[in-house]
Amino acid sequence: MTTQTNTPQPVFKSAPPVALGLEGVVVAETLLSHVGGAEGRLIIAGHDVEDLAATYSFEQVCDLLWALSSVSHAEPEVALGKAREAAFTLLPHLGNALALDDAMDALRASVSHLPSRCTESEVVAATAVFAAAHARTRQGKVCIPPDARRGHAEDLLHMLGLETDAVRVRGLDAYLVTVCDHGLNASTFAARVVTSTGSDLVSSVVAGIGALKGPLHGGAPGPVLDMLDAIGKAEDAESWIRAELARGERIMGMGHRIYRVRDPRALVLERAIEQLEVSLATTEAARHHAASGRLRLARATEQAAERLLCERHPTRPLRANVEFYTAVLLEAVGIPRSLFSAIFAAGRVLGWTAHIAEQRKKGRLIRPASHYAGAWPSTQ
Ligand code: COA
Repeated sequence: MTTQTNTPQPVFKSAPPVALGLEGVVVAETLLSHVGGAEGRLIIAGHDVEDLAATYSFEQVCDLLWALSSVSHAEPEVALGKAREAAFTLLPHLGNALALDDAMDALRASVSHLPSRCTESEVVAATAVFAAAHARTRQGKVCIPPDARRGHAEDLLHMLGLETDAVRVRGLDAYLVTVCDHGLNASTFAARVVTSTGSDLVSSVVAGIGALKGPLHGGAPGPVLDMLDAIGKAEDAESWIRAELARGERIMGMGHRIYRVRDPRALVLERAIEQLEVSLATTEAARHHAASGRLRLARATEQAAERLLCERHPTRPLRANVEFYTAVLLEAVGIPRSLFSAIFAAGRVLGWTAHIAEQRKKGRLIRPASHYAGAWPSTQ
């Protein structure tokens, strides 16, 4: 018979160091994207993110990433259009998924209803359809059927009941492209872990949605907007952030696990907001005025946050990440803030599907080890 003792026993003569957070641990080789943390460079499918967002549509990037990961796919524009229409027919069969309060809970629950053998374009299309349907349901409005003749970004705005002028469509399209893939981020890793067990596409994507929901990953843009609302005017940014840091709070939209300089996606989105403002200015002077006030406030807040975080952490650069300007861009496009993370998922789901295919092709069961620090049975 054995009894328990609280004295930890060494498992190894010299235990390997615990890689909490897996920083710097390389567990996959990928053709899809490269995150250069020191120089602030993101390469997706061989293109700098700035160029990709400026010149490629979301569908064209689907084509690039699925080709690189050997996903057999038809012309993405056609396949996604058809798949959006098919996903819409599933809405009556989603139980109470769309009635859930939180958009990411609703997305997780509704994507779970997809058949586990569905294709990459079906899961990408369904994510957009279910996100839009959740927003409409929560607003007490009828869900708007997709229109397969529209591009993916335009149809997403259409299903949300938002304006679909070229300026907003371009803004949302650039956003979806900008966030579609980002190395082995937490949600992509989660999706790859599930795939590595031999599980199916939908289960892996659901794992990605669960990981993306967290405020340290994809849950920050809504709180960024809450912060800008709370600050109110640019002159108050510094005192507000100082008080927040004194309370031990984190400033949402600042800091990154990999980047030691400003996240390159922040600049892409900041430029997209500028373009949106300039274009809207010609037709909608009042709206332009409101939007440019927001950008001014965001910039002042970023500068104050950067300065104060630098004072606190002089050796650990904490600069704006993608979510900081995501908030401002999606707001300018007209997306409700409760939907920001779900729209992030509508872009990132593309990267998940490509990584899942890559993992399936040449991956190995991902099964790290832990160091046991609990009680050992005492030997008599
Ligand atoms: N605001 C205030 N302090 C921050 C901070 C932030 N946004 N980000 C990091 N820090 C502080 C940490 O508290 C820690 O301080 P300590 O050493 O005194 O404990 C230090 O900086 C190092 O941070 P660490 O937790 O090691 O960074 P990480 O690599 O684990 O975390 C993030 C990266 C993104 C999770 C983190 O920067 C964060 O929480 N940012 C806010 C949430 C956000 O914007 N998420 C979206 C990411 S794309």
